Amino acid sequence: MPKPTVYLTRRLPQAIIQMLEAETCLTVHSSSEVPVPRSSLLQGVRGVHGILSMLTDRIDEQVMDAAGPSLQVISNMAVGFDNIDVSAAKSRGVVVTNTPDVLTETTADLAFGLLLATARRIPEADGFVRNGLWQSWSPFLLAGQDVYGTTLGIVGLGRIGEAVARRARGFGMNVLYYSRSQKPEAERNYGCRYTDLPTLLSVSDYVVVVVSLSEETHGMIGERELSYMKPTAVLINVARGPVVDEHALYRALKERRIWAAGLDVFSEEPLSKDHPLTTLDNVVLLPHIGSATVQTRMKMARLAAENLLAVLRREPPLTPV
Ligand code: DGY
Repeated sequence: MPKPTVYLTRRLPQAIIQMLEAETCLTVHSSSEVPVPRSSLLQGVRGVHGILSMLTDRIDEQVMDAAGPSLQVISNMAVGFDNIDVSAAKSRGVVVTNTPDVLTETTADLAFGLLLATARRIPEADGFVRNGLWQSWSPFLLAGQDVYGTTLGIVGLGRIGEAVARRARGFGMNVLYYSRSQKPEAERNYGCRYTDLPTLLSVSDYVVVVVSLSEETHGMIGERELSYMKPTAVLINVARGPVVDEHALYRALKERRIWAAGLDVFSEEPLSKDHPLTTLDNVVLLPHIGSATVQTRMKMARLAAENLLAVLRREPPLTPV
C-alpha cells in the first residue's frame, strides 16, 4: 500500500522528520524560521492526507479545499488552535489535534518570568547598565513593584492558569481567578478564589491573561476593563494577542493609568518595530516564546507527529481538539 502523504509547514529537527518519513511520504516547507507563503501552502497541501501545521498557518476552508477529500488530519504544533477553522474541519470529517499538557509548566514559567521582569523592570535595568547610564546606586533607581505577598488575578484558570497559581503560592500571593466555570478542586489545591472579572481587575496587583482565544474572549480586556485596574497594577498576556485591545492598552500605559505590561503575544505577529508599544518604557515585549525551551518544543513536535501518525494509522489521536 502506498504511504500516506503529509505536508509539514515548517522544518523541524531531523528526529521528527525521520519519525514522519518512516510512515509517510513527506513534503516539508524549507525553512524553520519563516512561515510558508500562502501560495506555497495551497500548492503544497494538494491531495495530502495530513497537514502538520504551526500557529502561524491559517488553516481555513481554502486550505482544506486545496487539500481535497484525501485530507484526514490537521495536527497543530501548539496548544492554541485559533488558526484552524475547526468547524470546517469537523464538517469534512477531518480530525484536528493540538499539543496540550507538554507545554503547561514551561509556559507558566515564562508567565511568571515575564511578571517578575515587568514588575522589577529587569530588561530596562539591563539596558541601563549596557548603555553606560549607571553612575551610582541611588535610593529609587529603577524602583519597581513588590511581587511577594501581593494579589494575583488569573484570567482563565485552565491548565496553564493553574500552573501559574501554583507558582504564585511560593511568592506568598493571594490568588484570585476568573474563568468560564468555577474550579472547586483548584480552589482547594491552590487556595485561589473565584471572582467576577471587574472585581478581579480592580483588586489585583498583577493580572495574568491565560484564556484561549475565541469569539467570547476576543477583546475581553479593553478600555473599560483596563480602567478598573489600579495605577500600580501590571498586566501580563501570554495567551493570544487579540484577547487584549492593544490600542486601549497602549493608551493606559502611556497615560500611566496602569503601571506596566508584559506581553508575549500580539494581535499581529511579528510585532512591527514601529508599533506604538515599542516606544514605551513600561512594557516588556517578547516574541511569543511562552513554550520555547528546547525540551518543550521537542515534546510539542513529537506529540504533533504522533497525533498525525495515529490518525493516518486509523488509531485514536493522543490529544484531539
Ligand atoms: C501555543 O502552543 O499555543 C503557544 O502559544 C505556543 O508557544
